[in-house]
Amino acid sequence: MIRHTMTRWGYSFAGPGTGRRAEVKASTAVTLSVILLGASSVLAGAGCGSDAATTPAQATAGLTFWQDVAPIYGAKCVKCHQDGGIAPFRLDTYADAKHNAAAELAQVSAGTMPPYFEKHDGTCGDFHAEDTLTADEKTTVLSWLVGPLAEGALAPLTPPPPPTLDGAIELATPVFSPVAQGGKLAAFDEYRCFPMDSPATANAFLTGYVVTPGNATIVHHVLGFIVDPAAPSSDGTSTNAAVMAALDAESPDRIGWPCFGAAGDNVEVSAVPVTWAPGQGVVTYPDGMGVPMRPTDKLVVQVHYNLSSPGSAGSSDTTRLGLRFADHVDRHLAFVLPDPFLDSLSKSPPDSLPPGQANATYTWTKTVRELGLDGVASVDLMAIMPHMHGRGVQQTVRAGSPGAMSCISELDKWNFHWQRFYTYRTQPRVTPDTTLEVTCDYDTSADTAPVLPGWGTQNEMCLPVMMIALPPGGP
Ligand code: HEC
Repeated sequence: MIRHTMTRWGYSFAGPGTGRRAEVKASTAVTLSVILLGASSVLAGAGCGSDAATTPAQATAGLTFWQDVAPIYGAKCVKCHQDGGIAPFRLDTYADAKHNAAAELAQVSAGTMPPYFEKHDGTCGDFHAEDTLTADEKTTVLSWLVGPLAEGALAPLTPPPPPTLDGAIELATPVFSPVAQGGKLAAFDEYRCFPMDSPATANAFLTGYVVTPGNATIVHHVLGFIVDPAAPSSDGTSTNAAVMAALDAESPDRIGWPCFGAAGDNVEVSAVPVTWAPGQGVVTYPDGMGVPMRPTDKLVVQVHYNLSSPGSAGSSDTTRLGLRFADHVDRHLAFVLPDPFLDSLSKSPPDSLPPGQANATYTWTKTVRELGLDGVASVDLMAIMPHMHGRGVQQTVRAGSPGAMSCISELDKWNFHWQRFYTYRTQPRVTPDTTLEVTCDYDTSADTAPVLPGWGTQNEMCLPVMMIALPPGGP
């Protein structure tokens, strides 16, 4: 069932299956008293040079929405929280900000809005964190929220345009009604692959994408694989074109083919430029970088449908993809999706997580060569998108050599609904000999049996999606 789909490095490689779990635990409920405690301790810590006895009332004196808070909300919240934006309410008017103040206090003090969960205090990796709140901004916002919510003198905001991908070519997956496959590894899930013709009319480079599920309740992830139909299949016996035709013919009454492992059993993948999960938004690759695609290539789109929500059985979806191309780039990008926890399904018994533990941990260690990189001196890690399923709590990535490892990514508050690439400001450089150590922390308190890795709702993963820049001048 598991197919390793390592391809020639220098182009890209895909790890085996990359399923996602649908169910998430109810988000951590924070009681108001805890929130207020949290908020006042922030205030105390920031207390304008005075002692810890500074009260919220003193600290908030004089703060107004328009003069103090609106500039921060305008820069950090309104791209989503505006009329027609993706968030459920606006934050660009005083009335809306005041009306939702209790929720803003809860989210901002908990650090869950804006949705940015990568540690960025300089102790683990150096990330672009411009879209989260600075400590000062957080103090200002919380101070206003716990105070009398003064309005101040109107100074209207011009909402920034919601993010879009200019010049993108639009594709859509066929309307499809998924059926849960059942079993231990996909109880509520179907993974289906749909082949699409290359939107590139000449040799070109993909430089960004945006994925919009038609039915967000059932679409749990979307991967886009570039496949060269003329290339040999991964078992070497045939071509990709023949393998895909055979897969397609197995279920003539349904569109596409099953594909828990990458683009389908024995389909050799050249690159995985699209890796979408909920919360991601528009992805633009770093300037001057892209993934090569030819007019003769196919884009095989894998959609993970999850039918665990009540009433979702029988529903259908068509998912839109926007792809942006450039004629040339300076550096090729590759996407790596390693998950030795998932790979352990090929062992008997596979690795598993102990049930009934608030702190169940899984750690894997591999050299970058073992993950498929060879033949180049070094590559740069441009961005990272940690991925786990519903029991995930934290994911930490360390890199270096045994005995001299340093932290390069720590995702503190895992939330299935908010997955995105976190982009490095200083890129870790890795060589084939670099050791990667990935630790995933899970909460298995609600489980009574060991938790297996897998593709389905009830399984887990320990996967950092890595965006890697190959050396300039091409592979
Ligand atoms: C990337 C888009 C985005 C940004 C930036 C963002 N939000 Fe949100 N926000 C959302 C979406 C979508 C939801 C609804 C889904 C959810 O709660 O996760 C939401 C929900 C909320 C909620 C309601 C949570 C609840 O109780 O249901 C609050 C309050 C909130 N955001 C405040 C803020 C504030 C304050 C900022 C800026 C400091 C901010 N958000 C920045 C997208 C965003």
